[in-house]
Amino acid sequence: MHPADETMEFMKTELSFATPAGIDTELLAVLAWDTHTLRGPDAKPEPTLLSTDEEIGEAAKAVLAGGEFKAAANETLLLHSPAGLKAKRLLVVGLGKKGSATVNSVRMAAGTAVRFCKPRGLKELVLVLPEAGLLPPGPCCRAVAEGAVTGDFDSDTYRSERKDLSVKSFMLAAPGNVDQDALKSSFAEGVVVGESQNFTRTLVNEPGNKLTPTILGARAAEMAAEVGLQWDVYSTEKLHELKMGAFAAVAQGSEEPPALIVLRYEPEGVTANSDAPVLGLVGKGITFDTGGISIKPSDSMEKMKYDMAGSAAMLGAMRAIALLKPKVRVICVVCSAENMPDGKAYKPGDVVTAMSGKTIEIINTDAEGRLVLADGLTYAKQLGATHLINAATLTGAIGVALGMANAGAFSNDEATFEKFSAALQTSGEKFWRMPLGEEYAELIKSDIADIKNTGGRYGGASTAAEFLHKFAEDTPWIHLDIAGMAWIDEKRPYIAKGPSGFAVRSILEWVRSY
Ligand code: BES
Ligand code: MN
Ligand code: ZN
Repeated sequence: MHPADETMEFMKTELSFATPAGIDTELLAVLAWDTHTLRGPDAKPEPTLLSTDEEIGEAAKAVLAGGEFKAAANETLLLHSPAGLKAKRLLVVGLGKKGSATVNSVRMAAGTAVRFCKPRGLKELVLVLPEAGLLPPGPCCRAVAEGAVTGDFDSDTYRSERKDLSVKSFMLAAPGNVDQDALKSSFAEGVVVGESQNFTRTLVNEPGNKLTPTILGARAAEMAAEVGLQWDVYSTEKLHELKMGAFAAVAQGSEEPPALIVLRYEPEGVTANSDAPVLGLVGKGITFDTGGISIKPSDSMEKMKYDMAGSAAMLGAMRAIALLKPKVRVICVVCSAENMPDGKAYKPGDVVTAMSGKTIEIINTDAEGRLVLADGLTYAKQLGATHLINAATLTGAIGVALGMANAGAFSNDEATFEKFSAALQTSGEKFWRMPLGEEYAELIKSDIADIKNTGGRYGGASTAAEFLHKFAEDTPWIHLDIAGMAWIDEKRPYIAKGPSGFAVRSILEWVRSY
């Protein structure tokens, strides 16, 4: 077995309607928020549990009154042998201030509870769902499942002496006086989404020598076969047959052949209708980006193994789509190559002809993502996509603009972007809309070809987006630049450092809105 596949042994998840005080477990986790309303010097935090369970309230009363726990977001407080509870431990997890806590705070708190258990060797926990009336139970149920499943992930599969610290069993205890079937399906959905996000993270974590374009193709095919998607994986010959001159130029500097991966999802019971939308998901899959002849400095170059995070996000979204079965056709195109300097590598000054027929002057071989995506977008349209979305670790400039708080989103169509914005309500992921425009298009005009592949230092994320716009043309399209968000540099209480699996949830929800 591939070592990384071990992480795909998912934690057991279960939804229960039993009274939490009576559940025999290593750890019972309950959420609390800060309900104080006073301002000024007399204001002090007032942690309040989001459960009206009397036994839990009684067990936590003294310590909550003590004042050392403030219920700040992801703050934890542990009690051993809580009086009146069957559980061995009671963990209180903070959500922050009552007025600002959201479903996303609950998602993070669930991850925090799971990550609290891991280093302590605790293998099971039960989390109490917030009482209805405080936060919406359905969305919370799903978010808890997502937070718990993603919280269990660690990218330590290549450590030979690693201890298995994964949590084996996670239970969500929901109050019984609710629509149990609705909660069950929300919970099950959250598990699928969390596992799909972890699938993405497993791929992104792989180093360049272990995950070549060919292997990415094999992993995509394996996943597709497992969940029932149609798939094709092509290489160099197909690129030439389709006249993908931009994608082929990037690929030609590597001994590793490129992979053009196509996955198809066909909804059951939806009659083929000529006006029905077909969604095209396109991913940048550079398995390692050295920069090519315009080689990158060696400082941090090792991180460029994550330059396939856009394609991994698309593959994770496709996995979830196959399992959650929305009523819309979806085509996924992944353009995977390794960007290397070599005797055969493409060079600054070269002119290449993209699949669409546009000629491109290469200024910098490190601006390779937009080249592979140009042909990916054209191909997705040729395969029938009526709406396009692409994801890519496209520019360092997006990280400079937005930091590690928001990813960039660009769109040529208001209605399509509206749908994407609405999807963010469910996904809890943060994107900030960035501008396209003629001013940026101006900067990528070439003296000798139709366009050039870079537009200078200023507005780098927007000139890259305008480059893609030239290939999406008038087809409604969204471009997600996730370069700043796909890798987490510092560990957080609710998620491991390393690959984040960012954008999987938002792409999925956007698809489900059609
Ligand atoms: N893969 C990089 C972008 C990137 C940078 C991703 C940092 C994650 C972290 C991309 O291929 C690239 O090299 N972009 C260049 C573009 C430039 C040459 C116009 C960049 O951002 O410097
Ligand atoms: Mn590059
Ligand atoms: Zn790149």
